[in-house]
Amino acid sequence: MAFSLTKRLAGLAVPYLTLEDAKTRHRKRKPMLSSFDWEQINKDHDAGKITPECRAWLHMMIMTEAGTPVYTELLTSLADSRRKEFQAFFDFVMEVWTPEEAEHGECALQVAKAIGFDIDVSLVRKFAPWRDQYLGACPPCERVLGTVSYTVIQEEITYHSHRAYAELSGSEELARMGKTIAAEERYHSYFYASRLKDVLEVSIKDGMSEETAYKIVGDVIKRFNMPTKYHLEAYRKYVETWMGDLAVDYLETKRNEIRRQLGPIFMACGGWKLVRAIIDAGPPIKYSEGDAAEYKVAAAS
Ligand SMILES: [Fe+2]
Ligand SMILES: [Fe+2]
Repeated sequence: MAFSLTKRLAGLAVPYLTLEDAKTRHRKRKPMLSSFDWEQINKDHDAGKITPECRAWLHMMIMTEAGTPVYTELLTSLADSRRKEFQAFFDFVMEVWTPEEAEHGECALQVAKAIGFDIDVSLVRKFAPWRDQYLGACPPCERVLGTVSYTVIQEEITYHSHRAYAELSGSEELARMGKTIAAEERYHSYFYASRLKDVLEVSIKDGMSEETAYKIVGDVIKRFNMPTKYHLEAYRKYVETWMGDLAVDYLETKRNEIRRQLGPIFMACGGWKLVRAIIDAGPPIKYSEGDAAEYKVAAAS
């Protein structure tokens, strides 16, 4: 009993990351492109070690990662991206996140080459049509509050996407790459969660009611879709229906894990009221009444 409570509270410890933390980590990390043996992945592909299911995940992952320049443009051109209170967000995007995601993109394109996926990269680099789809699906994402909420989830789901093909892969080298990138995606999720906490505080200081601010976060989460889906042309061309279904089914099996990861994160960002607002919005990642009670107990302790 005591152990389970300790374990539960330990699980609720969410790091608060500053821009300096992210820059320090960024300086110490190994360059990715030279960390993996692309020839080996190609050999594993030729030896039939990459199943159609694994390949489906790779198509989606390659499209997502190769689209990085579009996301950078979006993140830095929001209505209030340049607000001085959001400097840590802006600088992280420019100095840490973009270079790291660009490396994921380079690795993804090496994988594309190794598995013979002839992707037309220009299809995931068209900013205006992508932005229109993204903002059409998520109007609150026009501002940092909305988009930073989106990125917390998006990075966490991207973590699972990389884990998914790593788990399925008959290629050890490909699995190693997937797990390495996944760990970085989770770090990104924590960083954006720390900014969400800041942005919520600023918004409330500006005069926005807590209720409105938390409802915006709930709305964004309710509308969540992976960025890959908003590259309409590429998605139609490279992702067949069964591939999309495969991803949905897999994430369904990870629902508990995602919930356990994100619940404490949102608790740390805005406390119980924020978690409640997310539950009320009816997020795609379900929070049960049982979880709600658990977060409440943890918040009170
Ligand atoms: Fe990435
Ligand atoms: Fe990321």
